[in-house]
Amino acid sequence: MYKKVRLWGNIRALISAGLVLLPNCARSQTEGDARQGESFAKEACSQCHAVGRKQFFSPNPYAPSFYSLARSPGMTATKLHVWFETPHASMPNLILRAADKENVFAYIISLKSGGHL
Ligand code: HEC
Repeated sequence: MYKKVRLWGNIRALISAGLVLLPNCARSQTEGDARQGESFAKEACSQCHAVGRKQFFSPNPYAPSFYSLARSPGMTATKLHVWFETPHASMPNLILRAADKENVFAYIISLKSGGHL
């Protein structure tokens, strides 16, 4: 009986350790798909951000265009992740699936070099 309890304890500890580690692994291994990111951005971000290539003016003037985001010095997908995971007052804290985030960030970064096409 005792053994069983302890075993569960260990399994639970392992699982939570795994959950902590997983997002980091996913981040370093997966490269999002910029094409899917573009269509996702059109759905989820375009009400405020200009998401298109060489599109400079966002519907919401406070929201930077994705093109200018991509072109800002030293911009990387990692920076976008960090920004996204920090609470910010002026943009709603959107909850995105990990895959959507990878894709949309890959798309933004792809705009650095004129898009993915
Ligand atoms: C309801 C409006 C709205 C929506 C929807 C929205 N944003 Fe924003 N976003 C903003 C505003 C406003 C800012 C400027 C916030 C600031 O500078 O504090 C911003 C800023 C950002 C920034 C940071 C820019 C910087 O200065 O570093 C990123 C990255 C970003 N948005 C990504 C996204 C993505 C990706 C989506 C879609 C999944 C999205 N946003 C959807 C309003 C929005």
